Amino acid sequence: MSLSDRLFAAFYDVLNSVVEGRVEPYRRETAGKTWGDVLEIGGGTGANLPYYPPDVRLTMVEPNPHMTKRLNRRAKKLGRAVEVVPDVGEKLPFDDASFDCVVTTLVLCMVDDLDRVVSEARRVIRPGGSFLFYEHVVSSNGAMRRWQRLLNPAWRFATTGCNLDRDIAGAIRAAGFRRVELTSFDLSVGLPVTIPNIVGAAEA
Ligand SMILES: C[S@@+](CC[C@H](N)C(=O)[O-])C[C@H]1O[C@@H](n2cnc3c(N)ncnc32)[C@H](O)[C@@H]1O
Repeated sequence: MSLSDRLFAAFYDVLNSVVEGRVEPYRRETAGKTWGDVLEIGGGTGANLPYYPPDVRLTMVEPNPHMTKRLNRRAKKLGRAVEVVPDVGEKLPFDDASFDCVVTTLVLCMVDDLDRVVSEARRVIRPGGSFLFYEHVVSSNGAMRRWQRLLNPAWRFATTGCNLDRDIAGAIRAAGFRRVELTSFDLSVGLPVTIPNIVGAAEA
């Protein structure tokens, strides 16, 4: 793990607190709508933990041990049982159809292989289960998209790996789910670029 992974973990909650109030409804729309056996990919510091229904059986995949330390601390404070697996979404160490729900929030912008992670999510969800996602995505507006692409290298560097310009909705639609329902909206956070977001669910 690099210094940037350590710094990212150390400052994540502080930086996130700037937008967390606006993100909360989407945590309720995703984590809050889960049932049964639930997997969160990229659990981070556990920002979704307060929103999971109390009776779900929770597993989280998180590759950054500095994030995991904070995640375990938060789970303990909340009295919430969670199994944290130190792995990546690109090769989930679970059998096919192991979970009723898979959740990602603000993760698919960071993973190395977007298509692979979405396909792994699809693989481990049981028939009738749900992939619930809240992500920021590439703009549908041509001028804004060019601006996002121009800004992306600097943004990626500053955020240790987040990408502004990913077609995450396209990747989810192409992953073989039976039905995908999503809402798109802009979450302006006071930067000279709007942040197009999606929140939704894909049925396996
Ligand atoms: C921006 S944080 C979001 C954390 C949390 N989901 C939230 O909503 O606050 C992205 C998280 O994804 C993790 N991550 C990065 N690449 C990953 C991968 N390939 N597979 C799984 N998690 C990954 C990072 O370590 C980080 O904890």
